[in-house]
Amino acid sequence: MTEHWTPASWRSKPAKHIPGDYPDAAALSRVEQTLRGMPPLVFAGEARRLKSLLGDVSEGRAFLLQGGDCAESFKEFHADNIRDTFRLILQMAVVLTFAGGKPVVKVGRMAGQFGKPRSSAVETQGDVTLPSYRGDNINGMEFTPQTRTPDPQRLVQAYSQSAATLNLLRAFASGGYADLHNIHRWTLGFVADSPQGARYRELGEKISESLAFMEAIGVTPESQPALHQVEFFTSHEGLLLNFEEAMTRVDSTSGDWYDTSAHLLWIGERTRDLDGAHVEFFKGIKNPIGVKCGPTMEGDDLGRLADALNPKNEAGRLTLYGRFGADKIEDRLPRLLRATKAAGLNVVWAIDPMHGNTLTAANGYKTRPFDRILSEVRSFVEICKAEGVHPGGVHLEMTGQNVTECLGGARKVAEGDLADRYHTHCDPRLNGEQALELAFLVAEKLKEDRADVTRRAAAGA
Ligand code: PEP
Ligand code: CO
Repeated sequence: MTEHWTPASWRSKPAKHIPGDYPDAAALSRVEQTLRGMPPLVFAGEARRLKSLLGDVSEGRAFLLQGGDCAESFKEFHADNIRDTFRLILQMAVVLTFAGGKPVVKVGRMAGQFGKPRSSAVETQGDVTLPSYRGDNINGMEFTPQTRTPDPQRLVQAYSQSAATLNLLRAFASGGYADLHNIHRWTLGFVADSPQGARYRELGEKISESLAFMEAIGVTPESQPALHQVEFFTSHEGLLLNFEEAMTRVDSTSGDWYDTSAHLLWIGERTRDLDGAHVEFFKGIKNPIGVKCGPTMEGDDLGRLADALNPKNEAGRLTLYGRFGADKIEDRLPRLLRATKAAGLNVVWAIDPMHGNTLTAANGYKTRPFDRILSEVRSFVEICKAEGVHPGGVHLEMTGQNVTECLGGARKVAEGDLADRYHTHCDPRLNGEQALELAFLVAEKLKEDRADVTRRAAAGA
């Protein structure tokens, strides 16, 4: 940390992927000032609660399910989209809880996931070169000089969309929609008549029977509020530090700084330089945080980052997301698990099976083969087991919408189908059916794990 950390101390460090080409710097400053005056989106106490739940994950007592859009957009902002992703997460959590026998910590990649790091700063079409699209909070997707110019007003719109999204999520989470008795109503229309839908219905029957039994012995939503509502948290990549700085406030209870734009923020694969602006900013906020760990990361790099970001080795503070690719995970993950284990680091290990498995189809669509995604998740659980580390969670790009963005799955989305419903503003997402299929796979793996633990305990008894 620089000698005196402040929400602005990142400004003296090299900053990657933060646009420097706003045409009117004074207008940007005015917007930052406006944002500083806006109410926080989340409270420090909620961030502390998530940290404590992630502490349970790091100790093997819970599982993290994190998912949502690659990039939220102004165009796709609609109550139905928010509801559908929310209920998909609820469905997946039920599947995972039932199999794993552990609580599932639910975190949306929602209500603030706008800005994107891009591999190239510019895009060329024909003989025209313009700045790349960098997320709706910076510029627009349309390939015109005007739309691609960064516009600070977009930060205000992103704040307002995040606030409205979070408001709806809070209503869904606590207003009755997430009541476990509604388990059958969460099924998305297009998933209902699929093999995953049938499997889910079967599971729902079992849970409904258990609920009826519990009610008969007096355990009701009135006596047990946990049956009636869920805890749901939000997260996004903390990429645009000028926005994050403006949302960072002192918590009156603890006197600590919290970034109130989301409960959890993570540092992306492209911005995790130890001496860079992002690591500097993240050092001083007390939220639970994450770091993406890609195929070039070595154990030493990870050790240094963990020391910088979690010097007191607090459980629940740091989540590590492996994102290597199905063909690289076996080579790359074990050395990182050994490094964190050897140093006794209290971290959550989770897998992002999306970002190492992206390819461009022959017809030009950016896509991801579902079997590679599944394969990376499967390898993750197996490698963690072999290394004696808790496979703590999954981080997914997914949507409740019936999109055709990733290849494969039960409906065998083929290259020729990608054009049908390809709506993403950035990376290809799992659709509801594919996400549920993945949840069933993880559930089976967790169940094997549970059976192993029970067997070992019986053998030792
Ligand atoms: C992302 O999560 O959208 C992302 C860009 O991931 P990564 O930093 O791992 O490439
Ligand atoms: Co992405």
